[in-house]
Amino acid sequence: MKYIIANWKLNGSKSLLNDFLNQFSTYNSENYIVLCPPYLLLSSADRFKAIDNFFMGSQNVSEYDNGAFTGEISAEILADNKIAHSIVGHSERRTLFAETDEKINIKIKKLLSGKITPILCIGEKLEQRETNTYKQIIDLQLEKAFKNIKVDDQTFIIAYEPIWSIGTGVIPEISQINEVHNFIRTKMKQLYPKNVNQFKILYGGSVNLKNYHSILSSKAVDGVLVGGASLDSKSFYEICNFKN
Ligand code: PGA
Repeated sequence: MKYIIANWKLNGSKSLLNDFLNQFSTYNSENYIVLCPPYLLLSSADRFKAIDNFFMGSQNVSEYDNGAFTGEISAEILADNKIAHSIVGHSERRTLFAETDEKINIKIKKLLSGKITPILCIGEKLEQRETNTYKQIIDLQLEKAFKNIKVDDQTFIIAYEPIWSIGTGVIPEISQINEVHNFIRTKMKQLYPKNVNQFKILYGGSVNLKNYHSILSSKAVDGVLVGGASLDSKSFYEICNFKN
């Protein structure tokens, strides 16, 4: 069973959502799907309820609970609307919206208190890959994201998304993906020795119809986070039907 997550970013429409509903009406794979459309479209989550293994997720969550924070959505509002997954710390939030590791840590705590599964995104920039400092960066991102976080029995999704691969069509070698995924798994084992199996480690960055099979075939890869290729219901459906 693999986890396959669609991140529509600031794209999509009611009509694309209807395409998905039609396309997935016959879905019967065991792969676990999470569709993360823009907030307004999350209100259609109920229409997908009848599809097994198909869930909706948010692309972000506020670090605040409530109050005068125009434009924000809290974990409580997500939970109230039965949205049980949320991306947190996507590189676009980090770079374009000044989201720091400290804020991401607070957001994870808010998600956990609302019983929402966090989908934490981490990954290095191109120069960090080129200067061979990527493991230190990933280590630091994990340390800071999980600071003072207690893990009970919930599933926790971590997406390794090298920034140089997002939206570029360039993907790492499978051996490079495996190396980082094993590094993340070892780190999570150090941080949470009893809970290591609850951490699902996904790859994200230019996943498409040509490369998804070889990526998902790797034992070190628990799933994929798909951006651009998730905007076509047929392509995404094919990815979701991956079988080993
Ligand atoms: P991409 O985006 O698949 O379009 O590269 C992935 C992501 O940003 O999560």
